[in-house]
Amino acid sequence: MRRARQRADAFWARLVIWQEVHGRSSLPWQNTRDPYRVWLSEIMLQQTQVSTVLGYYERFLARCPTVAELAGAPEDEVMGLWSGLGYYSRARNLHRCAQEVVARFGGKFPHSAELLQTLPGIGRSTAAAIAAFCFGERVSIMDGNVKRVLSRLLAFDADLASGANEKLLWKAADELLPPEGDTEAISRYTQGLMDLGATVCLPRQPQCLICPVEALCEGRRQGDPARLPVKTRKLKRSSQSLWLLLARSGNGDAVWLQKRPATGIWAGLHALPVFDSADALESALPAAVRPAARHLPPFLHVLTHKDLHLHPVEVDADSSEMCGLAGRWVAAQDWPALGLPAPVRRLLEARAARPD
Ligand code: ADE
Repeated sequence: MRRARQRADAFWARLVIWQEVHGRSSLPWQNTRDPYRVWLSEIMLQQTQVSTVLGYYERFLARCPTVAELAGAPEDEVMGLWSGLGYYSRARNLHRCAQEVVARFGGKFPHSAELLQTLPGIGRSTAAAIAAFCFGERVSIMDGNVKRVLSRLLAFDADLASGANEKLLWKAADELLPPEGDTEAISRYTQGLMDLGATVCLPRQPQCLICPVEALCEGRRQGDPARLPVKTRKLKRSSQSLWLLLARSGNGDAVWLQKRPATGIWAGLHALPVFDSADALESALPAAVRPAARHLPPFLHVLTHKDLHLHPVEVDADSSEMCGLAGRWVAAQDWPALGLPAPVRRLLEARAARPD
């Protein structure tokens, strides 16, 4: 037991020193203890790389500098600010979370990971990151980078596809934390784990020779740290073909957009009307415009679980001709600010550049 405590103390102490010298320290969500800023960054970073998040983060804060302003913003505007980041349930939960912080906590984020977890979109690891960074709470995060670092350090080779095994790793992580009350160390340690996973303890080529905790690493001692973590479940990928109706008003400067239902593909975003087949699309067209429909080159959009094969069909129409379809004309100067799925935005931008 004493040995385990000594190893834990050596681990966090080395990581804290390493973070100070080699870790990331000038990202815009660092050097602040404002939970609004930290929360926003953690949600954006859940499935998106740092380099992509940077621009979105600044734009979001310029428009909604406080949680109260985000809570009061129209949903369409929030979706618009998120447009292109993907995983749009994050944006809907972000908005709901801001509204709950205002309604339940008077506009101030609660200080404990336990209460933070009761808010929409904040899971156990995100709650821990906010509580550790902003309030120095002694709690463990457990994202993909941290699973890799800790499973190697401890040579933890139980299958992380099982929730029970993940809980065991989480318990082991709790035992490695700096002591209660050392808020600076807890915050630096938390960032250090993320940084070590992102820059040194890489998935396929761990850089053990420059690792600050190499001497403590059981995975390294056993000879093949890259075999860890063990996670068996593979994502089953599927593919789907969809036909998109790109209807342009008579003079070509407006497009017909529908707000998608709250569930299913592109939920809550504005999109071109979507059909399961070319026939279904053509049947929905007013008879007068059907013969002039142009089948544009199909393109692929890759989602985490699915390849989407998108087949755009362009028609010139006018208001009276579109009355059978749900949706509305949106002028060329208005659609860029709406929440649009990334492939729809790309298509509209490409067609706007070549209005033939
Ligand atoms: N990914 C998630 N949180 C992060 C953070 N605070 N810094 C860098 N990458 C992250």
